[in-house]
Amino acid sequence: MRRGILERYRAYLPVTEHTPHLTLFEGETPLYHAQRLSAEIGVNVYLKHEGANPTGSFKDRGMVMAIAKAKEEGSTAVICASTGNTSASAAAYAARLGLKCYVVVPHGRIAMGKLAQAVIYGAEVLAIEGNFDQALAMVREIADRYPVTLVNSLNPYRIEGQKTAAFEICEQLGEAPDILAIPVGNAGNITAYWKGFKEYVQAGKARKLPKMWGFEAEGAAAIVRGEPISEPETIATAIRIGNPASWKKAEAAADESGGCIDFVTDEQILEAYRKIAEWEGVFCEPASAASVAGLIKMAQLGKCKPGSKAVCVLTGNGLKDPQTALHATEVKPKVIPGEMKAVLEWINVEMDS
Ligand code: F0G
Repeated sequence: MRRGILERYRAYLPVTEHTPHLTLFEGETPLYHAQRLSAEIGVNVYLKHEGANPTGSFKDRGMVMAIAKAKEEGSTAVICASTGNTSASAAAYAARLGLKCYVVVPHGRIAMGKLAQAVIYGAEVLAIEGNFDQALAMVREIADRYPVTLVNSLNPYRIEGQKTAAFEICEQLGEAPDILAIPVGNAGNITAYWKGFKEYVQAGKARKLPKMWGFEAEGAAAIVRGEPISEPETIATAIRIGNPASWKKAEAAADESGGCIDFVTDEQILEAYRKIAEWEGVFCEPASAASVAGLIKMAQLGKCKPGSKAVCVLTGNGLKDPQTALHATEVKPKVIPGEMKAVLEWINVEMDS
């Protein structure tokens, strides 16, 4: 029986007797062993499929906590900047508690499915002619000046909720993995996982800590380059971010764990994106594939110990962005007449080949 993370991990979260019992049954997402990827990469690869959350991304774990606390603290409205997933999740949970939700997104640069979600859940959607970093600067200022709660990952409750994914991985594997590979955009999620793993060790629920390997997209790799990027560019729109808010915390997670922050190219992202779907039957969004692309890159550099266990976080569901999938593969639907004869001819050709 699914319970949702506020109830399931109550002991580890800032849940009080006044916190609303909010849930869309987030969390308890699958951890798949990826057989063919493991064979190719030479380590035991697992995929944490966060796209299986209610609105299709990992944001639901943080959002259920942030929205419940906003309501508990008397707020009637929330606001966020977003490359798409945060806005979809905020809109859904705000709808559930009857809070007003304002979202600011970069015009033309968010996947259609995410925009559709924010709209149908009833959020006020503002599309600015600008990028995520500019949108975030604006909503931070608005939240300072007006009675509206910021629900970007600068809100500490977001990090609290998102750390539960680390707990689940430890439970599903029976221990922490050797490596945690994760896409990095605004850098909230890597911060949350690292906090989660450390807390589980402290609580005696895990015996070791993983190395944290975070991967930015090459055209948006501010942390790797050591300076903000004013016009970030990547096919992975979810992580098209040039000045990550949790920059220092991401660096700390990498340093303290003996891991790293590196980047992957759009080509490496798309190749991993196709392999995850074709080889493992899991459809994630392009940004999510940065975790697997990064692991492949590290293996090629000889940085993966054979036999070690690596968990790649697949942060969002591929259905949010079908356009990229259709462009990313050579396989196109074959158009033939709607007659049995034509279908049989095609099948015979296929069977013979
Ligand atoms: N993967 C996906 C699918 C995302 O949507 C995001 C962030 C990330 C990875 C990176 O996570 O920011 O915690 O480092 N999306 C945010 C949004 C920015 O607005 O939906 P991060």
